[in-house]
Amino acid sequence: MTEKLQIVERTLEQLGATTPERVAELFTEVRAVFDRSMGAATDEASWKQWRDGWLGRTAGALSLITSQWLKSAGPALKPSVGRGLNELRGHIERAIEERRSAIEAQAAERAAAAERIDLTLPGIERVIGTRHLVQQTLEEIQDIFLRLGYAIAEGPEIETAYYNFEALNIPEFHPAREMWDTFYVGGPTATPGKLVLRTHTSPMQIRIMERQPPPVRVIVPGKVYRRDNPDASHLFMFHQIEGLAVDRDLTFADFKGTIEFFVREFLGPKARTRLRPSYFPFTEPSAEVDATCVVCAGRGCRTCKQTGWFEIMGAGMVDPSVYGFVHYDAKKVSGFAFGMGVDRLAILKHGIDDIQVLVQNDARFLRQFP
Ligand code: DAH
Repeated sequence: MTEKLQIVERTLEQLGATTPERVAELFTEVRAVFDRSMGAATDEASWKQWRDGWLGRTAGALSLITSQWLKSAGPALKPSVGRGLNELRGHIERAIEERRSAIEAQAAERAAAAERIDLTLPGIERVIGTRHLVQQTLEEIQDIFLRLGYAIAEGPEIETAYYNFEALNIPEFHPAREMWDTFYVGGPTATPGKLVLRTHTSPMQIRIMERQPPPVRVIVPGKVYRRDNPDASHLFMFHQIEGLAVDRDLTFADFKGTIEFFVREFLGPKARTRLRPSYFPFTEPSAEVDATCVVCAGRGCRTCKQTGWFEIMGAGMVDPSVYGFVHYDAKKVSGFAFGMGVDRLAILKHGIDDIQVLVQNDARFLRQFP
């Protein structure tokens, strides 16, 4: 409050104001000073200072005028001083309030500007994952069987020994169990009724036949576990797709035709299939299915161990004794089953010579299969 405001500290006598006109002039003068001072309030802090300078209870200009001028006004001047004070107070309060809104609006605008999103700036490129090669392979295989009219079912990865072994015609202590010896939940010495990490998807054959009458045409994708040491062709956790078809009069020809169709669809029209006699307790006869090695087109290479063939699944005609476990009439139905290793099929198809790359999570590998 520098400019000319000494007048507010003086009495009317000191100012020589003896007429109402002169008083009115003085008010006009103060008002002009006030109006000019407005520019000093540019932000919240300077606005407060400005406000207190004019309206402050003890040292504010308005208080000073009130005490100095009103006190010293004789009866002739009192009304004009009172009116002048009222008008001045109204004017000052309005202006101060307006100034406050203006400063707040400016601050809000600045904050908004600081936050504003510039849509013209180049974006941040996000790394988007891809479906894992195993998942892609799984879906490809599923699609082929869906076209053949198969349904898809899934089952538990923690399985009872009954479904994993007994109902598949692998009694306890039968030597065939060794092929699939596994991780027992609760330790290797656990007793019958025990839980195992399923060693294959075959237990779902039993669960499916238990819950539906024939005919059955189903595939079962899922994870399985084995007590295998990791090497170029073994994982202790891998993926299988089980297949089961049971109906009246299904023959070995249906079985072979289905498998050959699958191999051609999956590996290409030139791929050939070979069945080798084998043994599984739940199929009779049993076979191992080989497909031509795609890496060397059957000429022989490291991937196929120079044989030109690559084993892709175990299979066979469902052993009649299995039907006994699910109360199917073995005299009326027949069928075939197969179980393929998805991870192996993935590396076979893409000529990958080490199955471990599937589980190493190396993005440089995974990105090659978008
Ligand atoms: N479950 C067997 C395994 O994991 C593969 C298999 C063989 C599945 C014969 C079948 C089958 O359905 O009929 O080695």
